[in-house]
Amino acid sequence: MKRDFIDLSSLAPGELSGLLGLAARLKSELKNGLEHPYLRGRTLAMIFQKPSLRTRITFETGMAQLGGHAIYLAPDDIGIGERESVKDVARNLSRWVDLIMIRTFAHATCLELAREATVPVINGLTDLLHPCQLAADLLTLMQHFGELRKLKIAFVGDGFNLAHSWIEAAALAGFELRVACPAGYEPGKNFVARLRRERLGILTDDPLEAVRGADVIYTDTWTSMGQETEAERRRQDFKHFQVNHALMRHAAREAIVMHCLPAHRGEEITDEMLDGPQSLVLEQAENRLHAQKAVMVWLLRPEILSNVAGSENPKKSVSR
Ligand code: CP
Ligand code: NVA
Repeated sequence: MKRDFIDLSSLAPGELSGLLGLAARLKSELKNGLEHPYLRGRTLAMIFQKPSLRTRITFETGMAQLGGHAIYLAPDDIGIGERESVKDVARNLSRWVDLIMIRTFAHATCLELAREATVPVINGLTDLLHPCQLAADLLTLMQHFGELRKLKIAFVGDGFNLAHSWIEAAALAGFELRVACPAGYEPGKNFVARLRRERLGILTDDPLEAVRGADVIYTDTWTSMGQETEAERRRQDFKHFQVNHALMRHAAREAIVMHCLPAHRGEEITDEMLDGPQSLVLEQAENRLHAQKAVMVWLLRPEILSNVAGSENPKKSVSR
């Protein structure tokens, strides 16, 4: 049966560590000039219904580094669900390509695509979840702290797709998660119920309570893609939720700051925090590449993941 990468909840804890281990290996070997053409001759179709910098570039570059090819389909190109049904897009693409990535609004579109496609589907962000970002973020944390389980992570901001994926990540990786959102912007009911039922951490409307003694302070834009008409109201509603020096003073001494980007400087985070020595935002962005390469290899060549030491001898690159 084919696997998809739609959410973190479908992963077993062992699969997460396998993925992160493979990502770390691909990263260090790339830096040593080793090539891994694990996906030679394979094609990825990337359906984008929203803009992107990181997701597009890292999937396209990652596929090239793995010896494959990626095709970018811009929001107006195929009109998924409008010019042609999701089902027909899925069935056609499955005849030509080996893998599909989709960035879209309704999570149901991503699920339907995965159901109708006979090739694996990757969720490149929906209004519900952003699992590729979390794969990169967990790799970043693993490489910075060594272990995830002992961390206290504060998510300060909107209870939207990133917050949901953080709740899924906490369930999988076992760290303590504190979610701070203004009233009315809490995560979806099922996610809040899970946070409480599985004792993953707390939900509060007080950023200080979330940040006190935390090892990681994470934030995201106050106005996500598709919510632009609410921007002014959100700026008001979130004004006490900025990640700044005053808030960071309450975190653990060696605490780090994370942001999935794009950032709205001076809104959810100050320049000082984003560009300062505690910021890991560029490591996160870089790790999108390595984590997603691991996801693609896992979906198309699972035997490589079960042998993280490598089933092929990597070739020394002459061009790097
Ligand atoms: N973090 C992230 O997904 O960035 P893009 O929207 O630029 O892809
Ligand atoms: N919550 C943001 C994340 C961007 C990567 C959005 O959905 O726009």
